[in-house]
This record gives sequence, C-alpha cells and structure tokens, in this order.
Amino acid sequence: MNWDDDTDTAPGPAAAPLTADGRIVGASADGEDQAVEAALRPKSLGEFVGQERVREQLDLVLTAARARGATADHVLLSGAPGLGKTTLSMIIAAEMQAPIRITSGPAIQHAGDLAAILSSLHEGEVLFLDEIHRMSRPAEEMLYMAMEDFRVDVIVGKGPGATAIPLELPPFTLVGATTRAGLLPPPLRDRFGFTAHMEFYDPAELERVIHRSAQLLDLEIETAGAAEIAGRSRGTPRIANRLLRRVRDYAQVKADGVITREVAGAALRVYEVDDRGLDRLDRAVLQALLKLFGGGPVGLSTLAVAVGEERETVEEVAEPFLVREGLLARTPRGRVATPAAWAHLGLTPPQQTPGQAPGQLGRPGLFGV
Ligand SMILES: Nc1ncnc2c1ncn2[C@@H]1O[C@H](COP(=O)(O)OP(=O)(O)O)[C@@H](O)[C@H]1O
Ligand SMILES: [Mg+2]
Repeated sequence: MNWDDDTDTAPGPAAAPLTADGRIVGASADGEDQAVEAALRPKSLGEFVGQERVREQLDLVLTAARARGATADHVLLSGAPGLGKTTLSMIIAAEMQAPIRITSGPAIQHAGDLAAILSSLHEGEVLFLDEIHRMSRPAEEMLYMAMEDFRVDVIVGKGPGATAIPLELPPFTLVGATTRAGLLPPPLRDRFGFTAHMEFYDPAELERVIHRSAQLLDLEIETAGAAEIAGRSRGTPRIANRLLRRVRDYAQVKADGVITREVAGAALRVYEVDDRGLDRLDRAVLQALLKLFGGGPVGLSTLAVAVGEERETVEEVAEPFLVREGLLARTPRGRVATPAAWAHLGLTPPQQTPGQAPGQLGRPGLFGV
C-alpha cells in the first residue's frame, strides 16, 4: 500500500453540510424535494420566475453566443441554497441546445477525476460543477487551464519519471455553482466570463412560483392562499415548493382540497412555521435571547446551551435567517435582539433604568427625571 501519497493533505470529506437538518424551512434539498423538483423545474429562461437582472444578462450572453455559432462563456452562479442555481444550469444547456454533464466539487477529489470528465466532453457540452468551492486544489489548477485554453496536462507515472501529456479539449461551457463565492480563489473566479449573483425572492415572485407549481401538481389554490405560503417561504423557491406540498396534504385531509388563506395558515401552524417563516428552532433562539438574557448581548455558547443545541446549529442553521430578517444582530460583545424581535414575539423590551448607558431601546422621558 502506498502511504506516502498525498491523501492526508488532500481535503478530507468536508464538514458535513447541514442538509440533513430535517427542517421544513431548511433550504437544502431533502430526498422528497429531489424527487419532486425535477418535475417543477422551469425549462427555459422565459419560465424562470424573478431574478430579472440575472435573466436579462444571461439571455444576452446566450443569444450572442448562439448568433456567433460559438460555445457560451463560462458562467458562475452564486447564491444561497434553493434559489435556482441547478435549475439555471439546466436552462443554460437547454437554451444552447447542448447536452449537460452534472458533477460536483466534492465528487472531484483528484485531478485525475476531473481529467476523466473533461476528456470525455463533447463540443459545446455544458459541464455543471455544483459546489465548485469544495473541489480539491490540484483539480482546481487543472480546471484553470481547461477553462482558458481548452487543454489539460495529464500526468502519467509518478516521481522523476512522470511525464505530462497535453490533451486538447473540445470547447465547452463550464457552469459553476457556489453558495460561497467568497471562498473561490481569485484565479478561478476570474476565468468565468459571467457571474450571476442570485438574490432572495420577494413575496410577489414566490407567489408566482407557487401558482406555477400548483398548476403543475394539479392543485386548486386561491391567490390569498399562495400569498400566505409565499410570506413564510424565507425568500426561497425550494422552501415555497416544500411548504406548498405540506399545505396540499393538509388541504386534502382536513379540508376539501382547495388551498385558501385559512387552510394554508392552519396547515403551517401544524408545522410550526410562523407568519414570518420562523420555525421552532428560530423561535427558541429568539425566546431565550429575549426572556433569559433580556435581549442580550449574550455569547453564542451561552445561547446555545440555553436552547439545548450545538453552537454550530445556532450559528449556522438559525442565525443567518434571523440576521437577514433584522431580528438578531451579531456584535463583538455577543448576540443582541433588535426591537423587531421583541415585536415579533409580542414581548415588551425591559425598561431602561436610570444610570444605564442609553441604548437603542431607551425611551428618554419615561423615567421622570
Ligand atoms: N426562478 C424560479 N422559478 C421557478 N421555480 C424555481 C426558481 N428557482 C428555483 N425554483 C425551484 O426551486 C427548486 C430548487 O431550485 P434549485 O435550482 O435546485 O436550487 P439550487 O440549485 O440553487 O439549490 C426547484 O424545484 C425549482 O423548481
Ligand atoms: Mg443545486
């Protein structure tokens, strides 16, 4: 067995992604999502809801390439999970009438894995590399050359006798997707001709996503019912589609199948998703922060112990959305609740006692100086 290869310097299995969190408002795809999503994916740019700027820019890139009879430039899609990166990669291939090959960073740990894929691409093919930030360093370096010169050096043999055999590649379009554009090394980022930053969707756009999915799933939904689901979907089409399916179940079992505002509201109460899209974990964190620590500042570890969760769970699963919603702030002194957090849980912030430093919650005049 060869012990002196580079296996212990290669990035090991990256930290387990928080996909298996089992939350109804989790943005990563679970097994059921994967099965249903294929059916719900828009197939063309025209069907893709929202993301106006990205759509317009991408349309120009693809139309121009088609007019030149050329392969489209490499495209980087960056954005949070569930916003449509995989969907867009398939649309790019469809719009270019090209086949698509799908792989991901974690699947490519050795440069050889990548060489095997690249050397079997056909002219004009789209290579979709999901989670591109999790690719190994040697594979990344091979990718630079492949993207720029459509060439790779395949290393044959080991040690002093190793030789590099240059291999020409047919022109192809790389579509990379990442949730962490900041983690990409600049040389890799610079080799993409076009970068699309996907934003969270506003409620009106999510309503359109929901109506579209309802139609594909053959569901009867009222406008107010779709709005009710949209408002709780955390700006994310994947979550909107998942909540729609849970509401559908409820409508079938407890109502006459029609999704009204009341049915949607009642169903999502059963699943403990509140009217702002917070679930039980999110609310537990806020409640501890407000009720036990007076709104903070409190350290992350203390907060985690108070809700009986791991630090990482609080920090990576609950907090990003709370911060994005303006309910919680991370400060150098610890976590702090905002006035919106008190309002959301229907609680009154503690009144400031005279002599305390004036804070944003202070209401001068109340203390009758
Ligand atoms: N703009 C959109 N319009 C309609 N449906 C969308 C849109 N974006 C995403 N979806 C739906 O959300 C689900 C998740 O999208 P996906 O492309 O897998 O997200 P990502 O790859 O960014 O995690 C898919 O089922 C897709 O149908
Ligand atoms: Mg994806």
